[in-house]
Amino acid sequence: MTPEILASDALGAATRASLWRLWRSAFDDFGDHDGAHAFGDLHALVREGSEVVAHASVVPRTVLIGTEAWAVGYVEAVAVAPERQRRRLGSAVMTALQDRLPGRYPVAMLATGEHGFYEQLGWERWRGPAYVVRDGVRVRCAEDDDALMALRLPGSDGLDLTAPVTCEDRPGDAW
Ligand SMILES: CC(C)(COP(=O)(O)OP(=O)(O)OC[C@H]1O[C@@H](n2cnc3c(N)ncnc32)[C@H](O)[C@@H]1OP(=O)(O)O)[C@@H](O)C(=O)NCCC(=O)NCCS
Repeated sequence: MTPEILASDALGAATRASLWRLWRSAFDDFGDHDGAHAFGDLHALVREGSEVVAHASVVPRTVLIGTEAWAVGYVEAVAVAPERQRRRLGSAVMTALQDRLPGRYPVAMLATGEHGFYEQLGWERWRGPAYVVRDGVRVRCAEDDDALMALRLPGSDGLDLTAPVTCEDRPGDAW
């Protein structure tokens, strides 16, 4: 099984509807903003019949690492249909997506509670403090510290995983 790679603007209405069904079944608390965050660059997905059963996407975000602005590939909405989990489908879509990242982004980031899954794909925990710029003010968001992870890519030489990281706010979860 080889995941499809599609740009957000190439996803038709039926695929988008299937993606929402997947996310709502895989997550307990998946909101409209979480889904909206998933669109903006590339998707890796696996279908069974007309339904998407595994998905991962990456979107561009500017993240301050220390005081330097990085063009980060931010991974969103990684999900496998509950009845298909632990059969490597999640790893397959992530691997397909990660293969597209070199040259596109110098580093990738994500926020998760499933660190073990991403560690076996080469991701590392972020160890520095998390911040968000909200209404022009940089505020600490300690609740996100443990969630953040990074994937080193060509161009991430010198990346300091202990540095403070700051994102712009957005509707829904900032990180
Ligand atoms: C997390 C998720 C995407 C993983 O996809 P998956 O297809 O079930 O995972 P895989 O079969 O590719 O897992 C490969 C390996 O990753 C690790 N792994 C997978 N899920 C894990 C978890 N929840 N906790 C710790 N390690 C995990 C295991 O080492 C696993 O190998 P094993 O099954 O031989 O032990 C999927 O379980 C899911 O959709 N969960 C609900 C939604 C979610 O939490 N998404 C991620 C949020 S950022």
